[in-house]
Parts: sequence; structure tokens; C-alpha cells
Amino acid sequence: MWRILFLIHVGLAGIWATDYELLLEDPDIFAPCTEARPGTMFIREAINFDKLTVEQDPDTIHISGNATTNWDLQPNDRIAAKFALFHYQRGNWEPTVFTMATQDFCAIMYDKDQYWFKYWTTFITNRQEVQQDCIKKAGTTLIHEPFHLRLMLTNIRGATLHGRYKTVISFEAFDEKNVPRPNSVCFEIRGEAEKVK
Ligand SMILES: *[C@@H]1O[C@H](CO)[C@@H](O)[C@H](O)[C@H]1NC(C)=O
Repeated sequence: MWRILFLIHVGLAGIWATDYELLLEDPDIFAPCTEARPGTMFIREAINFDKLTVEQDPDTIHISGNATTNWDLQPNDRIAAKFALFHYQRGNWEPTVFTMATQDFCAIMYDKDQYWFKYWTTFITNRQEVQQDCIKKAGTTLIHEPFHLRLMLTNIRGATLHGRYKTVISFEAFDEKNVPRPNSVCFEIRGEAEKVK
């Protein structure tokens, strides 16, 4: 996922570029969002993990199996998705320039040019079913072929990353009148940035 951000904000590789990886700090991988509004669901509430295997090496997350959604929305709701990187400094989580947002996740989840697709949804094998309900209908099962997520930020120029970082991934739903639904989904992945040698 980290790779995603960089490509959007910095562009093509240069000779001065540096690659970083995130060494995960939490054995459970996912942590609840610290700034979440009341009513926000954690990923382990929004998705049933019973048949989903998520394992980690220091810098890679291995995912396989079936995730069943518990999020219960209306068919015409819109889901906005966001990914943001924060740096822990002087006791606070400070925002960075590394963010990625889409206002209509369901419209682009199978767009092959989208990073959501390249890093996640391309590995969902029951695409036809999922395309119909997206992640709006509780009880939808997302069947994954085994895949890996390496948490890297590549080709960083003009900035040095060090210390503790977190990525905040959130999904927010809006009804047909664009009013936010009370329950959104949010989770964090935290770790230490380290230069890839
Ligand atoms: C996932 O669902 C498919 C289809 O129902 C099934 O064949 C497969 O065994 C399931 N995998 C797991 C890990 O439960």
C-alpha cells in the first residue's frame, strides 16, 4: 500500500530516490483509529475474519481466504475511501503529504488502473458477485486468492523518513442525499520506517 501513495505524489523514479519499508509494530497488524468518531467500526467488526487468514513477516502481510462483510448499507449509498500516512512526532500523529482518496470506491474498485485494484481487489476471485453489491450488503463474501502486501514507499526524494509512522485507511458511506451514514469503517497499520538496502 505504501507504494501507492508515492506514485501519486512524486511521480517517476529518479536516481536520488530512496525506498522505505514499514516494519509492523503490532502483532495483530490492524489497530483501531485513534481519531475515529463514535460509531466507527474497526475492520474486525466490519469484516468477519473467521475464514480469512492474515499473517505477517516483518514487512509483508500475507492474505488469503474469505472475508464476509458486516457493513450494512443501502444499494444507492456512495462509499468514499481514503488512505493517509501520519508521522509520530513530539507525542502527536502529524499528517504527511502522502494521501490517496476516492469519492466513489464502488465505481473504481475493478478499474485496472487504480491502486485499490492492483493491490487488493484484483485478488478477489468472485468478482461478478462482488461487483453487484460492492461492499454495501452485509453477508457478501469476498473470496481472495492468496496475495501479499509489502508495505513500501518507493522512490522517495527530497524527504527522509525515519521513526514511527501509521497508515490510516477509512471507508465512509453517504446516503442518496449525501448525508454521511453514522457508521464508517476505519483502521490503522503502524510501524517503523526503515530504508530498504
Ligand atoms: C471460500 O469460499 C469458497 C466458496 O464458497 C469455498 O470453496 C472455500 O473453501 C472458502 N475458503 C475458506 C478458506 O473458507
